[in-house]
Amino acid sequence: MAKHKNRKFKTVLVGCGSMSSAWLSSKAAKNNIDMVGFVDLIPAAAEKRAEEFGDAGAIIGTNLKNVIVESGAEILFDVSIPEAHYQNTMTALSLGLHVMGEKPMADTMPRARKMVAAAKKSNRIYAVIQNRRYLKDIQIVKSAIQSGVIGSIHTIQSDFFLGPHFGGFRDAMDHPLLLDMAIHTFDAARYITGADAQSVFCKAFNPEGSWYAHGASANAIFEMNKGISYIYNGSWCAIGQNTSWESTWRVMGTKGAILWDGGDVLNCEVYSSKNKSPSKLKSIKIPKKVNRSKILGHDSNIQEFIDAVRKKTKPMTYCVDNIKSLAMVDGAIKSDKAGRMIPITD
Ligand SMILES: NC(=O)c1ccc[n+]([C@@H]2O[C@H](COP(=O)([O-])OP(=O)(O)OC[C@H]3O[C@@H](n4cnc5c(N)ncnc54)[C@H](O)[C@@H]3O)[C@@H](O)[C@H]2O)c1
Repeated sequence: MAKHKNRKFKTVLVGCGSMSSAWLSSKAAKNNIDMVGFVDLIPAAAEKRAEEFGDAGAIIGTNLKNVIVESGAEILFDVSIPEAHYQNTMTALSLGLHVMGEKPMADTMPRARKMVAAAKKSNRIYAVIQNRRYLKDIQIVKSAIQSGVIGSIHTIQSDFFLGPHFGGFRDAMDHPLLLDMAIHTFDAARYITGADAQSVFCKAFNPEGSWYAHGASANAIFEMNKGISYIYNGSWCAIGQNTSWESTWRVMGTKGAILWDGGDVLNCEVYSSKNKSPSKLKSIKIPKKVNRSKILGHDSNIQEFIDAVRKKTKPMTYCVDNIKSLAMVDGAIKSDKAGRMIPITD
């Protein structure tokens, strides 16, 4: 019985590019799955991953449905490009598999909605990677806010300023910052606040000197529920004074504020308990206790998915919740196009 409870799941990987190595190298993958199939439009990419991580006799192919059927897989790992997530996930759910896929859930909201509906109907778990939720420092910030140390929060601001030269598809696409990166930051804002976006006003632009074809910078104001305002400032062509990939954050509450650099520098100032005068503030040391199994990025995210499959529960990044982060990206782009505030619906 115990053996059955801890058995490994037959798993197929679709999309055998650069990120897939991080997935299959994780402890969660090594301990819980047997890699029985590898699919990629480029056969050599699938063959390479099969050599590195595959079971003896693992099936390799370019047609996902055939490989799933032939291998008898129970789980799909989808690490393909965003435009392919919809078809891959729908195929796997229709064949009764659980799916863990890379962010973003899909390239459009109508497709994402269909994926969520299919997951609900199939009674299978479809979860999305949001690895930045599974980092030590964001969890310390979230716990501090939940403890009420700065009171009831009303304003949160993130600054994301980096200047990477990727080359490739990001340089040519529309809205590279909002579509390819801001999903992480918007999802982090939802995670930290425990609030969801209701509307957004966003202005994207391409600054002088940008090496992208379009929209490398953006400013957005989100109205979240719970009376919270979220202000996002970002650029992917920022030269100098860069932030971390996790952004720098200011969270303001009724009793004080937290400044977080996205790494391990965290400052918190609150009213002195004796005197509510603005000149009587005190610094607070934030407790740094975290659940060590939840701070390993992809590894923790994949482990939580596997645990949910075993226990028939829902992981934190279950599609029904995750679509709310994608809806923020979609709303921001629509607002930029329309030049006005846009309501956000998932
Ligand atoms: N969570 C993170 O921090 C993070 C970081 C980087 C990338 N990503 C995401 O991971 C995913 C993959 O990114 P990557 O950097 O590995 O890209 P990549 O281009 O290196 O690999 C993608 C692979 O998918 C294959 N592919 C494309 N369409 C396919 C289809 N229809 N069927 C089968 N295979 C197909 C390609 O041939 C390629 O081998 C993307 O969704 C990206 O946004 C996430």
